[in-house]
Amino acid sequence: MIESNGLFMKKVLIFGAGGFVGKYLSEEMINHGYVVEGSDMQKTDNILDAVGFFPCNILDTEKVAALIQERQPDYIVNLAAISSVGASWNMPAMTMSVNVVGALNILEAAKKLQKMPEIMFIGSSEEYVPSSSATSEDTELNANNPYGISKMTQEKFAEMYRQRYGMRIYYVRPFNHTGIGQRDSFVLPSFCRQAAEIESSGKPGTIHVGNLEAKRDFSDVRDIVRAYRLILESGNYGTVYNVGSGKAYSLKDILNHIIAFNNQKIDVVVDEDKYRPIDTPLVLCDYHKIKSELGWEPQYSIFDTLKEMYQYYLQQSKKNK
Ligand SMILES: NC(=O)c1ccc[n+]([C@@H]2O[C@H](COP(=O)([O-])OP(=O)(O)OC[C@H]3O[C@@H](n4cnc5c(N)ncnc54)[C@H](O)[C@@H]3O)[C@@H](O)[C@H]2O)c1
Repeated sequence: MIESNGLFMKKVLIFGAGGFVGKYLSEEMINHGYVVEGSDMQKTDNILDAVGFFPCNILDTEKVAALIQERQPDYIVNLAAISSVGASWNMPAMTMSVNVVGALNILEAAKKLQKMPEIMFIGSSEEYVPSSSATSEDTELNANNPYGISKMTQEKFAEMYRQRYGMRIYYVRPFNHTGIGQRDSFVLPSFCRQAAEIESSGKPGTIHVGNLEAKRDFSDVRDIVRAYRLILESGNYGTVYNVGSGKAYSLKDILNHIIAFNNQKIDVVVDEDKYRPIDTPLVLCDYHKIKSELGWEPQYSIFDTLKEMYQYYLQQSKKNK
């Protein structure tokens, strides 16, 4: 807790603050009266000026312990991860290290503080078994890829530290989220960037895609970080919340929507090497629990988000000409 002008402000330390979500979560917390400190391997443009930055590899046990001891945060949110399912197939061991051992380093360090911070871990919809209908928190967990397995393992440890040491640990299973700033190795930024570059070239062009039949639940990242704040403020540690839009669209429908922003003729080429080894046909979030308990509902439509992302890439592409 920090005193500023007679007001006591809670301090949040965000690991993985230099990533895509880090910037949005920092903004959300600062706008709601928190002092935000961030850590990541290195400083990136996602670290806001108002965020104190402390470089640290979460696999460095001693450095993580020293950082948490020195900063004495009220809350820790761990966003640091190997965050892509695709990448996790190529580096399963590193995925387990960062996503599980990294979380354990944070838990062990936090456990030693006199006043233990409250911690939020970010799971994923990838923890659930594939389902042909909407996925609620009660759906069985049984991930089918290295990323999902690492998140399930992280969650088991969170549960263990809660029970064994009485730690206040919040756990959330978000579904896909996107927005300006997400790396274009992810599908929606990739579609938006390719379409915008064709538009700015003034000539017809080709978009390369993977499996377009998959139906996914995509949210705007700003809705997701609002949910994280509401969960932290709820005091409801010890329970798990899904966060997602409750709507699933096929990637084909989404791509057609993006192509409609464009004035140039676009050919779509399916690259088999963009297919994942296992690709779940439907991912759809049932978010009734967070809605009924915390009043959270999505405020953004994914189609408005796509328009913003497309416009962003169009401006970038014109700037780079
Ligand atoms: N974006 C999504 O659709 C989505 C969906 C579900 C869950 N999540 C989870 O949300 C969290 C944030 O996602 P994001 O999209 O911002 O991911 P991101 O990849 O943009 O950011 C992750 C950050 O972790 C950092 N990191 C990786 N290894 C590290 C290490 N050894 N030490 C310190 N930092 C390290 C990276 O440098 C990066 O800045 C992740 O846990 C991700 O798995 C994201």
